[in-house]
Amino acid sequence: MRNFSYNTPTKIIFGEGSIEKLEKELSKFGKNVLLTYGGGSIKKIGLYDEVIKRLKKFNVFELNGIEPNPKYSESVVPGVKICKEKNIDVILAVGGGSVLDCSKAISVGALSNEDTWDILTYKVKHDKALPIVDILTLAATGSEYDSGAVISRPETNDKIDFGSKYVFPKVSILDPKYTFSVSKRQTAAGTADAINHVLEQFMARESSLLNDGMMISAIKSLMHNVKIALDNPEDYQARAELMYACTLACNGIFSNGTGPQNWPMHGIEHALSGYYDITHGEGLAIITPRWMEYILCDKTVDRFIKLAEVFDLHDEDKFKLAKKVIEEFYKFFESINIPMNLRKLGIDEKRVKEMAHHVHICEHLDWEEAFYPLNEEDIEKIILNSL
Ligand code: NZQ
Ligand code: ZN
Repeated sequence: MRNFSYNTPTKIIFGEGSIEKLEKELSKFGKNVLLTYGGGSIKKIGLYDEVIKRLKKFNVFELNGIEPNPKYSESVVPGVKICKEKNIDVILAVGGGSVLDCSKAISVGALSNEDTWDILTYKVKHDKALPIVDILTLAATGSEYDSGAVISRPETNDKIDFGSKYVFPKVSILDPKYTFSVSKRQTAAGTADAINHVLEQFMARESSLLNDGMMISAIKSLMHNVKIALDNPEDYQARAELMYACTLACNGIFSNGTGPQNWPMHGIEHALSGYYDITHGEGLAIITPRWMEYILCDKTVDRFIKLAEVFDLHDEDKFKLAKKVIEEFYKFFESINIPMNLRKLGIDEKRVKEMAHHVHICEHLDWEEAFYPLNEEDIEKIILNSL
């Protein structure tokens, strides 16, 4: 195993009724609260009223309307402005990954005199952020337990991945019941996202029995429980397991001590969302089998063989087995009704070259230590194969 250091400073409060702890946790950070949320799902499920009822002793300001693939100009900039004008002490993010990510970006901009975009793109340094408490309503990204924030800027087709130890949420309240209302489409996309987070870590040059065991179990759990949740959206056990698996999947804990990864499928998907504003998990599900087919070779085949444990597949012929594994992933995504071609999401040949160039410049997928380095031409072919 390689040396590593690991620290997740986020307190997780998990389970039905966890919201009881909200006031106590929030009051540790101050009185002035910026409540952030999306397009209204929290109102429909009664969570907004529940939160407001519990915030009587706080001064609450709001930023709402945060969209999927949260936008810099529309949401981050106004959020930073409110924080500065109202002396916000803590951000309470209630929603899915987009609300959490937007809140993380706001949290660094709020305590800096620099341009927030320059911070998010590492042009200028930052050394602090406002504390974030969140109530998660969608199992998918793992933003509730990680240091990442993905922010889109359609003006420049950018979708950037910002990472900072200062933006780990202080407290994440995870009540699976709040995910009962998540649509079938978002439930499937969220699960595909989390499966892909595990795969990005699994497909590395070095691993261990321990790491592989955790990752294979996580994929099995996600595949098993999403089917139950799609059939019965109010199955608490399935929603709970999905939520916890998603939370663990993006935090790095699964790949501590393994070889380096550079998340190529995410690198490619970011351009697809940056250019076409598609749902992240759907884009990933479409790219996954195409990327796998593309990189399958003598150097990579053994990781596919290990991955065969997910489906309990066996074959003497390594390449035959690897191809079966890829086919199983494709069939699985199809079985949860993910449209498996980019055309179905409105993407055609027109901007493929441009997107491949964008990915090549911004995502550094040709890093030589990567599991399988990709140059611009490789990226273009993978996108074309996904159409
Ligand atoms: O806006 P509202 O009305 O809340 O509706 C949302 C939104 O339309 C809805 N929703 C959320 N909770 C719901 C619900 N609908 C009914 N009932 C509920 N309980 O679901 C839709 C999608 O929400 P969104 O937050 O966009 O989804 P997700 O959690 O999948 O987040 C996607 C974003 O996270 C980024 C993605 O790129 C994308 O921008 N990612 C963040 C990562 C991170 N921070 O570590 C890692 C990921 O790889 C990913 O890149
Ligand atoms: Zn993802």
